[in-house]
Amino acid sequence: MKTRITELLGIRHPIIQGGMHYVGLAELASAVSNAGGLGVLTGLTQKTPELLSREIARCKDMTDKPFGVNLTFLPTFAAPPYSEYISAIASGGVKIVETAGRSPEAYMLAFKAADIKIIHKCTSVRHALKAQKIGCDAVSVDGFECGGHPGEDDVPNFILLPRAADELRIPFVASGGMADGRSLVAAMALGAEGINMGTRFVATQEAPVHPKVKQAIVAASELDTRLIMRALRNTERVIRNAGVERILAIEQKMGHALKIEDILDEVAGVYPRVMQQGEVDAGAWSCGMVAGLIDDVPSCHELISRIMAQADQIIRGRLIGLTC
Ligand SMILES: Cc1cc2nc3c(=O)[nH]c(=O)nc-3n(C[C@H](O)[C@H](O)[C@H](O)COP(=O)(O)O)c2cc1C
Repeated sequence: MKTRITELLGIRHPIIQGGMHYVGLAELASAVSNAGGLGVLTGLTQKTPELLSREIARCKDMTDKPFGVNLTFLPTFAAPPYSEYISAIASGGVKIVETAGRSPEAYMLAFKAADIKIIHKCTSVRHALKAQKIGCDAVSVDGFECGGHPGEDDVPNFILLPRAADELRIPFVASGGMADGRSLVAAMALGAEGINMGTRFVATQEAPVHPKVKQAIVAASELDTRLIMRALRNTERVIRNAGVERILAIEQKMGHALKIEDILDEVAGVYPRVMQQGEVDAGAWSCGMVAGLIDDVPSCHELISRIMAQADQIIRGRLIGLTC
């Protein structure tokens, strides 16, 4: 399938694996890229820019196809050394960056100087327009159903995507709730040029996470996610578990007076425990409502081939037949 996104990124299929903390390591990113999609390393999972350089080199040993790096601009006081991370990306020869969190405006000159294409992930039309204005090459439009941070507007993709299509000139991919060929065809119908998936890629053979994490996603239904940190305006969609129930109880008690310190035990330092040790109840970890559509753990190649075959079957077998 040829779209503005496959052309822009030099990939075969219009499928991107979004950056995921402690999941987007070289094993997964290279597997997605080798299967014809765009794999993405998660920059800040590497504790220093030097470690990111090593991870980029490791990924290059595993694939000769394009891959990207996610750089998440966090709402923290002690900001990571972003300029040094960008230098590591540029000197590693990576030409695609997925930015997320805040606007990448302050770093656009550095990205452009290194001939890096920017896909900014955002959850509203106004942020997508801002990304377009500052020179981003594409956006990833994350609907309310997404795993991770859906923003504070709560607009689901059936509305958000056509709104984005009405306003944007740069290409965009649909993110949040994407799982299969039906998702891809629907996203294209709503104006997107491809899809970005997070949760679906966690439940793959190559995702370098504990089998219990994959099992938890397969076992979860579309009813098994919760929103936390709303009072902090840092809403996150996470899988329901014992740690999250504790967070929700604290949030209910504290109301608008909630501070991050109140829930720090269940949100800070949880990812390595969950993803590497398999302590799936340790606290909050991102997961989308799309878990309800995930019931197996295929290889990335099987998954991407299946999505493309199903999309083809829907377009040629069903949709063309409906026109008269
Ligand atoms: C376990 C997990 C960790 C994530 N970590 C990040 C992250 O560090 N930075 C980021 O920009 N997005 C992160 N995301 C969001 C994904 O990149 C993607 O936008 C989102 O999962 C799309 O929604 P979906 O899960 O419905 O496919 C994460 C998602 C998951 C499931």
